[in-house]
Amino acid sequence: MRTPVIGGNWKMYKNPAETTSFFESFRPLVEYSGHCEIVICPSFLDLETAVTATRGTRIQIGAQNLYWAKEGAFTGEVSGPMIRASGCSHVIVGHSERRRYFGETNEGVLKKTVAALDVGLIPIVCVGECEKENAESVLMEQFRYAIGALSDGQFARIVIAYEPVWAIGAGETATPETAADTHRFIRTLVKDRFGAEAANNIRILYGGSIKPENAKSLIAQPEIDGFLVGGASLDPVSFASIVNLEL
Ligand code: PGA
Repeated sequence: MRTPVIGGNWKMYKNPAETTSFFESFRPLVEYSGHCEIVICPSFLDLETAVTATRGTRIQIGAQNLYWAKEGAFTGEVSGPMIRASGCSHVIVGHSERRRYFGETNEGVLKKTVAALDVGLIPIVCVGECEKENAESVLMEQFRYAIGALSDGQFARIVIAYEPVWAIGAGETATPETAADTHRFIRTLVKDRFGAEAANNIRILYGGSIKPENAKSLIAQPEIDGFLVGGASLDPVSFASIVNLEL
């Protein structure tokens, strides 16, 4: 059995005061949600506030990006050791917005993934195609260069998020069947490279316009091991109702 992961990607929203008030509302709503892992990824500036607000709860905190060097003259960047020291457990790597607006490549995603693993952070590595038509070839390439070069031991510690770019923030989601087919395809890539056990164990999250209304039919697919939620994770009630779907 794979434990589902429900992740919230806050993108460039919320300041520390808004972060505190989110968790005041959110904490009691997910008090009994032991069936899944909950990971919220605020901006760098909100990480410490979020860690403090969730201390003693099952809610885990992640960053949305990192730089692969441990420290150095890299103005504006934040390293894995800094994120770890601020109390985070996870970090999103290779989100499509990073790839699209900030020029991230598969090679960079691989370096960041390794840097995260080196300091004990769990990378949530994002893959996804821009156009529906070429999903398989794009996913194959992203998998091969951004994930396939990990060692077996490294791979065992990552989470994959499949987010079709055409579905992000667009109000359009893949149908549960299409999403499950794509997750199966990714699992086949994992099996070919890392073996059957790794394919069986890897958590593959789905992301792209997940809302309380569409999440139920997607999570019903055994291939879908949770979500990475953008917009709907900003509201404590919406996000909690996605977390609590299986209760
Ligand atoms: P969305 O974002 O849920 O707002 O579409 C998902 C994501 O980009 O992780």
